[in-house]
Amino acid sequence: MSRCFVTRDLPGRALDRLRAEHEVDVWPDRFPPPRERLIESARSAQGLLCMLTDPIDADLIAACPDLRAISNYAVGVDNVDVAAATARAIPVGNTPGVLTEATGDLTLALMLASLRRLPEGEAAVRTGEWLTWEPAFLLGSDLHRATVLLVGGGRIGQAVARRLRGFGARVVVAGRDDPLDALLPEADVVSLHCPLTEKTRGLIGADELKAMKPTAVLVNTARGPIVDTAALEHALRAGEIAGAALDVTDPEPLPADHPLLTAPGALVVPHMGSATQAAREAMADLAVDNLLAGLRGEPMPQSVNPGAPS
Ligand code: DGY
Repeated sequence: MSRCFVTRDLPGRALDRLRAEHEVDVWPDRFPPPRERLIESARSAQGLLCMLTDPIDADLIAACPDLRAISNYAVGVDNVDVAAATARAIPVGNTPGVLTEATGDLTLALMLASLRRLPEGEAAVRTGEWLTWEPAFLLGSDLHRATVLLVGGGRIGQAVARRLRGFGARVVVAGRDDPLDALLPEADVVSLHCPLTEKTRGLIGADELKAMKPTAVLVNTARGPIVDTAALEHALRAGEIAGAALDVTDPEPLPADHPLLTAPGALVVPHMGSATQAAREAMADLAVDNLLAGLRGEPMPQSVNPGAPS
């Protein structure tokens, strides 16, 4: 029996399976454990099941001499120093696949909401500005026949592409090494589906936003720091682009008084791409399977450093 620290309670029954085999300590709060508490609780653990809100850096890994498996409750592992874990032969698990369709659905919801100005329409109803039917009230842009540039052609990018073809959109996929400068001016929608790495941090900045059409919208369901927030706010206020629909932001959470929220065409939701009951339960199952396998010294079902089983 090993000792496991789980940094938040998870939906569904997956943690019961972990408890059946190991001693499990679950952080009970709504907010993530502060760093000192995270280190204190992880220090004596062999298994760590963590969230994207927990920075699992080299210092933390060094402070946990018994750690044998890290399981991240997310597909993105930008919060984990994978190199430091690999150097200690600690496998790092993640949760790809099970959240792909849910994230694809939310991406389409954001795209349509932004192109068709749903937040403005909803606000107009609530504030009494819906006075009559008008020929030119709240005119938006079409998704059908739009050219949609997907930055990242992995699982989620492909799921979004499948949905878009059903809508009659023209899909262009930019892979890891494709330069964006020639593609951005053609796109009616630019949707981000790449991981956050040193190469993609700030990928969409002032120059890229300027290169987009003034009628285009930016959608981000990947990671906030891929977009330069100040440049985006400027681009919206200057009319360089028509809208930005963001599931992820930098900083995250975005404070309620952040100036981006009052920029025209900004639509922000709280990192909920995978937030369906089924997806989050499936993520919990996979995260627990990864941890159980890592603690047994077996290959994890999903690992980002498969060469490093303990
Ligand atoms: C992930 O898995 O990386 C998402 O951002 C949260 O589900």
